[in-house]
Amino acid sequence: MFFRAFLYLTWLLATAISTHFDGPSITQVTAPVDHAEGPHWDGRHNILYYVDIHSGGVLAYHYNTNTLSRMHLNGDVTPVIPSRKDPHLLLVGLNRSVVAVEWDAKQKVGSQAVLTTVSEQFPLSRFNDGKADKRGRLWWGTMGVETNLVVPPGQGFFYEITREHIENPIIIRKDVSISNGLAWNKANNKLYYIDTPTLKVVEFDYDDEKGTISSENRTVFDVNEHPSIAGAPDGMTIDEDDNLYICLYGGGAVIKVNSSTGKLLQVIALPARDVTSAAFGGPKLDILFVTTSRVSLTPKERLQLPAAGSVFAIERLGARGLPAFTADIVDSVPKKPVNLLENIFGPEIFTPGNGNKNVVTRNTSEPGGSK
Ligand SMILES: *[C@@H]1O[C@H](CO)[C@@H](O)[C@H](O)[C@H]1NC(C)=O
Ligand SMILES: *[C@@H]1O[C@H](CO)[C@@H](O)[C@H](O)[C@H]1NC(C)=O
Ligand SMILES: *[C@@H]1O[C@H](CO)[C@@H](O)[C@H](O)[C@H]1NC(C)=O
Ligand SMILES: *[C@@H]1O[C@H](CO)[C@@H](O)[C@H](O)[C@H]1NC(C)=O
Repeated sequence: MFFRAFLYLTWLLATAISTHFDGPSITQVTAPVDHAEGPHWDGRHNILYYVDIHSGGVLAYHYNTNTLSRMHLNGDVTPVIPSRKDPHLLLVGLNRSVVAVEWDAKQKVGSQAVLTTVSEQFPLSRFNDGKADKRGRLWWGTMGVETNLVVPPGQGFFYEITREHIENPIIIRKDVSISNGLAWNKANNKLYYIDTPTLKVVEFDYDDEKGTISSENRTVFDVNEHPSIAGAPDGMTIDEDDNLYICLYGGGAVIKVNSSTGKLLQVIALPARDVTSAAFGGPKLDILFVTTSRVSLTPKERLQLPAAGSVFAIERLGARGLPAFTADIVDSVPKKPVNLLENIFGPEIFTPGNGNKNVVTRNTSEPGGSK
């Protein structure tokens, strides 16, 4: 009964927000994991990288073959950014360390090394969201350890990690609680940023040459001022028209917002409550891949939301993303290698039939890839 009601509401909402029948379509493209996060599209091999934070999973969804491979490291992992010079060299956040791992995105893991460890004063804190900028520097943030869904405030930092500052990353912001979504505008002179508990998306002036942001910020969007939406802002991305796509953890949706006016343009409901992050991908960069979580759902809620924890592909949005920047802080695995690997799985093919009828699965034998 509840599930039917949920489906109906989702359908109603989806219908209400699509202005015509060519509106967005939502496809479940992977089986669920507990806490999918940090999607990054690598157009060099048509791979969507993402993580399953608490299982230490680094996942590679191969768009061309619709298959998924996973490697698991020893700890919490996020984010994952492939390197500029070598697509098989990944920069990964492992607990509060930046590690370099060679992985062919399938079966073979090569050398691994710890490049740096941050936030000694908060031993249980960990990396959270992070991206590379246009020059390949890493802008990665941290958060305090979560216990019983509570994160202690002020134990996070927002770091900038450059080739010159690998050992001692630059602190961009301190007193952060949950360092999250970030995106640069097309002109590359603004940085959008989220510290989740503030419920705000803020804009900084960004100087790409110096690698600095302004001390002042402007609030672009405040979830508190929009009673029609719920949850807290988590990951985000931007399209080529500088519209932001903000994922609402607890809010069951991705929202599209004009970054200059803050106007709420669209609400895209998903069959998951905790929507974690989004990235444009696909050969034309016109598919919005969205990661979700089921880690905070009760057993009953998991039955109601069987696809929670999956990656979804939103198509026919009528928008395109900008290519994600790759990392350029090391050329190879530099130091004395260590073994951080726990396990490796795949390739797996996602087959539907989990009872979730309001999503369709991708059909690779059809032109365009989906239905
Ligand atoms: C990451 O943290 C977990 C929990 O504290 C710990 O068990 C694990 O060994 C850590 N991983 C590394 C590589 O230090
Ligand atoms: C943005 O500015 C406000 C007001 O000065 C400040 O309280 C807040 O910490 C700033 N946010 C970030 C992420 O720096
Ligand atoms: C965002 O709003 C500004 C001001 O109204 C407008 O000029 C701009 O075209 C809008 N952006 C998009 C992508 O519609
Ligand atoms: C996928 O598409 C092909 C070509 O249209 C069709 O023959 C096949 O039945 C479809 N498979 C599924 C599972 O829908």
